[in-house]
Amino acid sequence: MSNIAVLGAMWGDEGKGHITHHFSRDYDWVIRFNGGANAGHTIYRDGKKFVHNLLPSVDFRVPTVKAYLGAGMVINLQKLRDEIYDLEEAYPGAASRVYVDREAFMVLDEHIEEDKKTNGHIGSTNRGIGPAYRDKVNRKGVRIDDLWTNRHFDPYYDDFMYQLCGKGVHFVHALDMEKEMKLGKLLFEGAQGVLLDINHGIYPYVSCSDATIGGIYSSGFGFAKVDTVYGVAKVYTTKVGEGPFPSELQGEEAEWLRKAGNEYGATTGRPRRVGWLDLPALKYACQKGGIDKLILTKLDILAGRDVVPVCATYKKPPSCPSDFFDADPKYMEVLGWDNCRDTTQIKPFINEVEYATGREVSFISCGTDDSDILAWSP
Ligand code: IMP
Ligand code: MG
Repeated sequence: MSNIAVLGAMWGDEGKGHITHHFSRDYDWVIRFNGGANAGHTIYRDGKKFVHNLLPSVDFRVPTVKAYLGAGMVINLQKLRDEIYDLEEAYPGAASRVYVDREAFMVLDEHIEEDKKTNGHIGSTNRGIGPAYRDKVNRKGVRIDDLWTNRHFDPYYDDFMYQLCGKGVHFVHALDMEKEMKLGKLLFEGAQGVLLDINHGIYPYVSCSDATIGGIYSSGFGFAKVDTVYGVAKVYTTKVGEGPFPSELQGEEAEWLRKAGNEYGATTGRPRRVGWLDLPALKYACQKGGIDKLILTKLDILAGRDVVPVCATYKKPPSCPSDFFDADPKYMEVLGWDNCRDTTQIKPFINEVEYATGREVSFISCGTDDSDILAWSP
């Protein structure tokens, strides 16, 4: 059985949700392993838009696929309760296919309050993520297991847990699921992206979790072998929040791209910063993230251009986060396309990406529909 991971290659919002949702039907488990409700995974199902903040991007219409919220996450139980209630409304009974790792730490209301007061300078989503991970690392955090076993007694949070149990959500430990999971196929869904990773992202403008392949194993899935790690990147780049963004556009061109790509945060509604595809950053992300193959999304947005600019080099190929602070990006123009389903038209662009990153492109996506996700074979 082959297990895969789908990671964000850049600063998040690359379209992982859409890709994972499409792939999920062929898997038994879709496992989120990092982050919390700072993520916003946008999914279009039956013509309707869904945003999952905590739930993995499972196609819940398919009865065989189960969702797992892993130990590396930080979970706001009230938010999860709301997502589960919405899910049950759309797909009654689906909540009984949701499993939550009791070793995950909780995001408490005070974490959210603190985030709002203290993390504006990096552009936090204010979902309490930083303070929750800080308390975890500081050995002062509260695990869901503490609530479950009454080591931490708090009727306010207990209530959310009971409501979740009432809908059929399971609270488990990964090792107790090992046998069952090993019988199936696993898809690990990353949140955020490699450039927001706490260790390898562009510190301090990062989130606080492990967004690389490392996050899978630090969540207790040492028993699961990941066969292929896919990195998802748009054919241009976006970023939410502060910090270096070497290929960022300003002015009219930025306005155009933001509008064309509908680049507004799924979680916060903030206009995203936009720029051209950044090949040195993408290569860095492949190397640090453990990415084997690439999936390129949103080719439809750049259709109709004679040429597509891409950032080709920095003054030095980035090998550490500080290389992004004074990158001095240089650009080149690649032949554009009118129709992103025409392999001859998009081949020059794909060739450049493969050459620059040393990774093959396996899939492309030309829109929000399932039928827009196409396998790429040269
Ligand atoms: P935090 O994770 O809310 O503390 O935010 C830290 C930084 O990561 C900010 O710049 C956020 O905008 C960014 N960030 C966090 N989660 C996401 C995401 O899912 N997509 C895009 N940016 C994110
Ligand atoms: Mg997002």
